[in-house]
Amino acid sequence: MGNKILVLYGSYRADRKGIRLAQFALGRLRARGEDAELIDAKAIGLPLLDRMLKEYAAGTAPPALAHLGAQIRRADAFLFVVGEYNRGVQPGLKNLTDHFLEEWFWRPAAIASYSGGRLSGTRSSYAWHNILSEMGMVVVSSTLTVGPIAATLNEAGEPIGPAGAALERAFERFADDLVWWTEAAKAQRARRAPPY
Ligand SMILES: Cc1cc2nc3c(=O)[nH]c(=O)nc-3n(C[C@H](O)[C@H](O)[C@H](O)COP(=O)(O)O)c2cc1C
Repeated sequence: MGNKILVLYGSYRADRKGIRLAQFALGRLRARGEDAELIDAKAIGLPLLDRMLKEYAAGTAPPALAHLGAQIRRADAFLFVVGEYNRGVQPGLKNLTDHFLEEWFWRPAAIASYSGGRLSGTRSSYAWHNILSEMGMVVVSSTLTVGPIAATLNEAGEPIGPAGAALERAFERFADDLVWWTEAAKAQRARRAPPY
């Protein structure tokens, strides 16, 4: 099997569009032989942050929280699919990520942003770069920007039209970057345990 890559997405809206990009990324990573899995914050349904996972006594955390924490610890890399609300981040994905800290450490992360318009969620992408760095991930320099999302991917998450063709081309280079750093970090963790 390939690298364990979690694709994280966090819109809770009934008419959400970003799930198209999350499904597209999941499918393309799997086609490359990666062991990719979707983490859909809405489906997991964590409550608004009360206690972080580490603040629970051993064995007392809610099962969904403990399960997700173990998935994050096992992962080799993360791909964050981020939308933009009022030039900021989506609260559902931010709420999910804030439940953890050390669980994220020492792995690379890549950011794919999208929006309903031409700006493709780039301001949210900038914000996530800082957030993920603060949480101990190494953010790769390649980014993917998708917009308008409804003119790029259909409801099944398949590329459409010229924007879809451009996304198809851009994704492979973006994934090459993430996978290269994923394998570098994996080799280093095997060579020497992280210092903390
Ligand atoms: C509350 C809200 C705020 C938004 N703010 C922005 C914004 O600042 N920039 C932008 O490009 N699009 C903005 N949009 C449009 C979104 O990019 C578009 O609705 C997108 O599909 C949202 O992602 P989702 O469908 O996965 O929830 C906003 C949408 C909502 C619902």
